[in-house]
Amino acid sequence: PGCGRVFSGIQPTGVPHLGNYLGALENWVALQDQYPSVLYSIVDMHSITQPQDPNQLRSNIMDMAASLLACGIDPERAVLFQQSQVSEHAELSWILGCLTSMPRLRHLPQWKMKSKQRNEGSVGLYTYPVLQAADILLYKSTHVPVGEDQVQHLELAQDLARIFNNRYGDLFPEPRALLSSTRKVKSLRDPSAKMSKSDPQAMATITITDSPDDIALKIRRAVTDFTSEVTFDPETRPGVSNLVTIHAAMAMITVEEALCQARGLDTGAYKQLVTEAVIQRLNPIREEIERLRNDRDHLEKVLVQGTHRARELAAPVLREVRQRVGF
Ligand code: ADP
Ligand code: NA
Repeated sequence: PGCGRVFSGIQPTGVPHLGNYLGALENWVALQDQYPSVLYSIVDMHSITQPQDPNQLRSNIMDMAASLLACGIDPERAVLFQQSQVSEHAELSWILGCLTSMPRLRHLPQWKMKSKQRNEGSVGLYTYPVLQAADILLYKSTHVPVGEDQVQHLELAQDLARIFNNRYGDLFPEPRALLSSTRKVKSLRDPSAKMSKSDPQAMATITITDSPDDIALKIRRAVTDFTSEVTFDPETRPGVSNLVTIHAAMAMITVEEALCQARGLDTGAYKQLVTEAVIQRLNPIREEIERLRNDRDHLEKVLVQGTHRARELAAPVLREVRQRVGF
């Protein structure tokens, strides 16, 4: 077990998909056993950098809370909370924003990509990485599980810790990246792209609440290619390799073991094997999410308790920050 404090956040975008589960959440669950202090935040303030329907947002927050619990986040071992309920995040974000230059933010990938898509992005979208830095530093976090796509944002958090410490005296540890597995789940319909909730094709993404029938159908429709043998070669055969990745991850075996089980099967028969592995793993998660969705009182209680514990950790840090800044 390491020492230090882990922080990570996830946007409340409804129920997570298989990529989120295998690329992030499975690791979040494991980290609960590896670090003495772990915080996971449903980062709803980040969500409103894009237009949101308020009722949909509220329901997405509850769905994300249910999903995290069902995946194995344990409120006894992890502080699970809703970002917007701890106003210290916004306050620290302002202070850190005043230590950041405009050009430092302009080249970050999220802004470059999303502002182009939207033609003109909001100030919130532009300064989103500063809020992310505040999320992390507010708890003096030392380790941050991130995907590769977030590495540059974490570097901003590291820079801001250093800049603050230089100007106002040592306060923040420099948070380190815990690169979650390089395991990337690809779109079932276009294996050159990653599986993503923003994919408009419904058949491309498996969510963790998909029924066994949905899962079977989506995997049956998954793009492979004209050779029916099962091989693992992500460069030249990304479709079938994606199925092998998913199979291995869901059955908790190595790629070699998955290929061994695939020997003698054509891709059609192999898809059934993959389907079974996915269903077996997701069934209990789906059932638990359904149970929790019907127990809103419990969900709210968990979030309120998590928020309370997060505030207890955040308040003294922000008090110290304010004092150093001269407020
Ligand atoms: P999306 O791409 O669907 O918008 P997010 O960007 O919200 O997902 O990602 C949340 C977390 O899930 C991140 O840690 C990210 O690295 C991980 N993740 C998202 N999609 C995948 C994927 N296809 N494979 C592996 N990990 C993924
Ligand atoms: Na994304």
